[in-house]
Amino acid sequence: MQIGSVTFEQPPVMLAPLEDITDLPFRLICRAYGADMAFTEFIASEGLIRNAQKSTLKMDLHNDDRPIGIQIFGHDCESMKQAALMAEAAKPDLIDINFGCPVKKVVNKGAGAGMLRDIPKMIAITKTIVQAVSLPVTVKTRLGWDEQSKSIVTVAEQLQDAGIQAITIHARTRSQMYRGEADWSWIGKVKNNPRMHIPVIGNGDITSGPIAKNMLLTYGVDGIMVGRAAIGYPWIFAEIKHYLHSGTELPPPNLAERVAVCRKHIMHEIQRKGERLAIIEMRKTYSHYFKGKPHFKPFRIRLVEADTAQTLYALLDEIAALPDPEFN
Ligand SMILES: Cc1cc2nc3c(=O)[nH]c(=O)nc-3n(C[C@H](O)[C@H](O)[C@H](O)COP(=O)(O)O)c2cc1C
Repeated sequence: MQIGSVTFEQPPVMLAPLEDITDLPFRLICRAYGADMAFTEFIASEGLIRNAQKSTLKMDLHNDDRPIGIQIFGHDCESMKQAALMAEAAKPDLIDINFGCPVKKVVNKGAGAGMLRDIPKMIAITKTIVQAVSLPVTVKTRLGWDEQSKSIVTVAEQLQDAGIQAITIHARTRSQMYRGEADWSWIGKVKNNPRMHIPVIGNGDITSGPIAKNMLLTYGVDGIMVGRAAIGYPWIFAEIKHYLHSGTELPPPNLAERVAVCRKHIMHEIQRKGERLAIIEMRKTYSHYFKGKPHFKPFRIRLVEADTAQTLYALLDEIAALPDPEFN
């Protein structure tokens, strides 16, 4: 599969953009476990233009983290164009437009999945960006606004005609938010549309190697994208790729590996964002790193309450030393 000058020999297993999760330190960890492509967290076009620190920090790239897409969102054509040009100057491999975010404060302004209620504007913004930048432009979106308006088959065609070079489809509507099951049959309909020739990447509810393989085989997508299953569990990429190659499942990581990766993650976050912010942002990941560990709750509470790196590392030492036959 090919997106611009980026070539993948096998259907790529991509890390989804996840706000407040997929920053550079976490993306680098996922790469180490085999993520083939990644995206920045979504970046508000208006914030980028204002030079807001939160937005510019999200554009921090690293050569070990390639190919990489910078994802932008917004509702205004001119701001989106300016933001795309600023993103291009940071030298990613592609620019991705978010037309899928379901969050109220985003859709109420007409951005993200809000654009699914104004397809002409979605297409106009896409065309403007495609014409403004020389990098490949891709789009990530959903099936439609709600159950009654699953417009993805025609929307994908129109986006292709507007010049995008790949589309990622999260197989839910905006109304579903993250509830219910992702309905991949709609991704299959896009893929089976004889007019479509750009790569179609499937997203939604991929949580294991067998599920990934089934989606690739059943719907013929060109690549797959993993979101929530990667949070605090970068091993998912190694597990999926191992299964795709061998048809057998890898054993899950043991406690020592989980502690080691969690510690590394904390250290890199601190280097990048400073101790205070890193400690706050890491809080949402501990329950994922140690998911399934019996009697973990008291430790989770202590990890979340810890306010220095030293306390966190001491706690991780304590966790690593636990006798834990059940948690291999
Ligand atoms: C915490 C969180 C943050 C997200 N942030 C973004 C984002 O910045 N950009 C985006 O396109 N999608 C975002 N998404 C959607 C995911 O990329 C993905 O489409 C969705 O979670 C479905 O995939 P999954 O079932 O593998 O998680 C986010 C989802 C979650 C749960």
